[in-house]
Amino acid sequence: MRRSSGGGIIGEAAIETCKLTKTFASPRGLPDLLRRRPSAGGVTPVDGVDLLIRKGEVFGILGPNGAGKTTLIKILCTLILPTAGRAKVNGYDVERESGRVRESIGLVTTDERSFYWRLTGRENLEFFASLHNFYSDEARDVVDDLLGVVDLKYAADERFLTYSAGMKQRMAIARGLLNDPAVLFMDEPTRSLDPGAAQGLRDFIKGEIVRERGKTIFISTHNLEEAEELCDRMAIFDDGRIKVIGSPADLKASLGDGSKLSDVFLHYTGKKFEERGGAGGAAPGFRQDRRGFPHRVGGLGRRRGGV
Ligand SMILES: Nc1ncnc2c1ncn2[C@@H]1O[C@H](COP(=O)(O)OP(=O)(O)OP(=O)(O)O)[C@@H](O)[C@H]1O
Ligand SMILES: [Mg+2]
Repeated sequence: MRRSSGGGIIGEAAIETCKLTKTFASPRGLPDLLRRRPSAGGVTPVDGVDLLIRKGEVFGILGPNGAGKTTLIKILCTLILPTAGRAKVNGYDVERESGRVRESIGLVTTDERSFYWRLTGRENLEFFASLHNFYSDEARDVVDDLLGVVDLKYAADERFLTYSAGMKQRMAIARGLLNDPAVLFMDEPTRSLDPGAAQGLRDFIKGEIVRERGKTIFISTHNLEEAEELCDRMAIFDDGRIKVIGSPADLKASLGDGSKLSDVFLHYTGKKFEERGGAGGAAPGFRQDRRGFPHRVGGLGRRRGGV
C-alpha cells in the first residue's frame, strides 16, 4: 500500500474525516469582553462528522438551510479551521498541510460577486490563473482550453456583467478547474438557475467533469432531483450530523418499493423536506424573517459548554 507525503493512502480516499467538529462561539457583548468572560455556548454546524469518500466518486450532501453544508465544505477547503477532529483531502491534513490541500482542490460557489464584472470572461479567468502562479503564456492556453470545456468561447470577450446566471455558473466551474484539481467542491452549483439551465449544468457536470475528466466531486445541494441524478453516494445531513449515507437507489430501497428520496429524508430526520424556494418558505426548523431569510427557530441552536 502506497502512502503519499501527506500520509494518506493513495488510490483509496479522496476525503477522510474523523469526528470533525466546528463550533462557532456566541458573540460576546462589551461587558463580557471587559470582564474577560469566556463566551458561553454557540452553534455547532459540524458535529462529529466521519466520512470516507473514494477517488473518482461523486458524493452529495443534502440538507436543509442551516444544516452545516457550507461550513463542512469550508473546513475541507481550508477556509476555516475545525474546532475538533481531523480531516484529510487528497491525503493532506487540512490544518497542518493546508497549502497542499489548496493546490489539489477547486471550489465552485454561487458567489458571482467574486468575479470582476467589468472584465471579460477571459480576462477574469486569466487573472485567477495568475493567482495560481501560471506564466502568462501558459495561463492563456489553460484559459482558452477551459473556455472550450465550459462552452463559453463564443462569449469569452464579452464583459462578465452581460452573462446570464447559467453562464456565470459555468465561469465559476471553469475557475474551479484552473489548477486541474483532483477534488472539486461545489456548494449548491445550480442554486440560482432556472430548471432548464440547472439540467444543462447537471448534464455538463456528469459528462465533462465526471466522465471525461474523472474528478472526485463533493457537492452540496438542496435539490433532491440533483442528488439523485448526480451522486454515486449521498449523505443526509441535518443539525451538523450525518443521518445516513448510501447510494440514492439503496437509500430508497431501504424504505421499500416506491419510496422517494423525500421519504428517506423524512424517515432519517423526522422532518419534511422542502425544496429551496418552494411554496413552503423556510426549511424545517427555520422561520423566515421579514426579508425572507431563514433563521433557526429558538435562537442559535444546540448549545455546547454546559449551557
Ligand atoms: N462564521 C459564522 N459565525 C457564526 N455562525 C455561523 C458562521 N457560519 C455559519 N454559521 C451558522 O452555522 C449554521 C450552519 O450554516 P451553513 O451556512 O453551514 O449551513 P448550510 O447547510 O450551508 O445552509 P444553506 O442551505 O442555507 O446554505 C447556521 O446556523 C449559521 O448561522
Ligand atoms: Mg450553504
